[in-house]
Amino acid sequence: MNQQDLKRLVLLISGRGSNLIAIADAIDRKELSAEIVLVVSNRVDATGLELARARGLPVAVIESAGYADREQFDQALADRLASFEADWIVLAGFMRILSDRFINRFAGQIVNVHPSLLPAFPGLHTHQRVLEAGLAEHGASIHLVTAELDGGPLLGQVTMPVHAGDNVSSLARRVLEQEHRLYPEVLKLLVDGRLGLDNSGRLLLDGEPSAGVRMVG
Ligand code: GRF
Repeated sequence: MNQQDLKRLVLLISGRGSNLIAIADAIDRKELSAEIVLVVSNRVDATGLELARARGLPVAVIESAGYADREQFDQALADRLASFEADWIVLAGFMRILSDRFINRFAGQIVNVHPSLLPAFPGLHTHQRVLEAGLAEHGASIHLVTAELDGGPLLGQVTMPVHAGDNVSSLARRVLEQEHRLYPEVLKLLVDGRLGLDNSGRLLLDGEPSAGVRMVG
């Protein structure tokens, strides 16, 4: 595949960076026809930054703590991204809410991974909330980012059982493993142009109405 055929991904991270690595691994295995043109962290101490550097990926730090408000940080982020001509902005453990202005600027190009079976449990502490609700099933979702928090169109989900002895950390570990399978798979279909919304907002896979990628963990 020629360099110019590769879709350009910008990854946004805040912490550990394990999804970033799963995506980079899929690219290295040639399962994903894409290149990571930039990794941006809003935290200088994000472990994922070191992992990205160690793989030779271009990184940038835009410290959110240094900006007066969300709009100013998002403007700095948008300015930094402008020259990278990203096809997709991939949120991989990016622990910030993006402003409507940023989302509109990159409408339909921003994807996120969330550790629950959306629309159930948007927001934080999903594993705790699943345990408190006594649910037998949990999972992770990939969705397009819209102004509604964790509420954009679903592109894929992985479901997995909650075991009797599960606690927050065991669920967190198992859900994360599933995210590492799901995210590259969804991205692969996106970059290949096989998965996407039509003009009326319906999700199509290979031209047919679809519920998106469904995996069982
Ligand atoms: C994942 O659980 C993801 O669902 C959530 O943040 C976590 C990121 O983990 N949005 P990592 O930084 O990719 O290891």
